[in-house]
Amino acid sequence: MSIYTICVSNQKGGVGKTTTAVNLAAGLALRGLRTILVDMDPQANATSGLGLNPRKINRGVYQTILGISDATRSMLPAADIEKLFVLPATQDLLGVEVEMVNAVSREYRLREALKDLDNLFDFAVIDCPPSLGLLTLNALTAAHSALIPLQCEYYALEGLSQLTSTVELVRRGLNPRLALEGILLTMFDRRNNLCHQVANDARTHFPNDVFDVVIPRNVRLSESPSFGKPIYLYDRASKGAKAYSQLAETLVRKHMKATHR
Ligand SMILES: Nc1ncnc2c1ncn2[C@@H]1O[C@H](COP(=O)(O)OP(=O)(O)OP(=O)(O)O)[C@@H](O)[C@H]1O
Ligand SMILES: [Mg+2]
Repeated sequence: MSIYTICVSNQKGGVGKTTTAVNLAAGLALRGLRTILVDMDPQANATSGLGLNPRKINRGVYQTILGISDATRSMLPAADIEKLFVLPATQDLLGVEVEMVNAVSREYRLREALKDLDNLFDFAVIDCPPSLGLLTLNALTAAHSALIPLQCEYYALEGLSQLTSTVELVRRGLNPRLALEGILLTMFDRRNNLCHQVANDARTHFPNDVFDVVIPRNVRLSESPSFGKPIYLYDRASKGAKAYSQLAETLVRKHMKATHR
């Protein structure tokens, strides 16, 4: 069985990418699946969200994609979740887009680097920065699928066509296997009419692609990163934990019997 790689991506900032990547990865690992969270964002929120201090780490995604260190030597175990590892972001990742401008096959660096992990993990979940730059392109090129968090607010759908055309371009040029895993509605507040409207619009425009499970706005989800914990270890009874657990379950069901494995 080889690894299945999901890229969590949206060029809009603050839509729930990192919250989704951390809690999806933890949810998969808690189901017994060997999972690695790859932090492609120089903000390093996913790394610190799992309790690691990016300033104290000297090997991570940066060293891996530049060929300075192997993925297997750069990954770290996440605290308290046995099957979960992190390929962390460090501050030097900030300069990588500039440093790689003229590099050969620069979009394929992550894909090549992750080959070492192929037989060690069942899932890789990649957290992307809020841009469509070289780091995101590397992530989309390395992935089997893109999972797109969509925050239920004004203009949510506007950036989506830009993102789906980027996915299409990557599929045609760099990575023909890239599928759309699905659109995940995040920060849903059922008392807010606008939320319902955005959710309805998304389901109308993308009838087959919006996940049934919706992530509610839940204060416990926003608190857990400051304790360096995924939601299940912070408040497993919260609505946020239940929703992300359901998302993990959906993906396990879908991919554990998929034909590519
Ligand atoms: N379902 C939710 N309920 C409440 N707060 C949430 C929820 N999801 C995310 N948040 C909070 O919203 C903020 C943005 O979320 P997050 O960091 O996951 O977004 P992002 O898309 O990764 O942001 P960036 O584009 O900066 O990387 C964070 O403070 C997070 O804790
Ligand atoms: Mg983020």
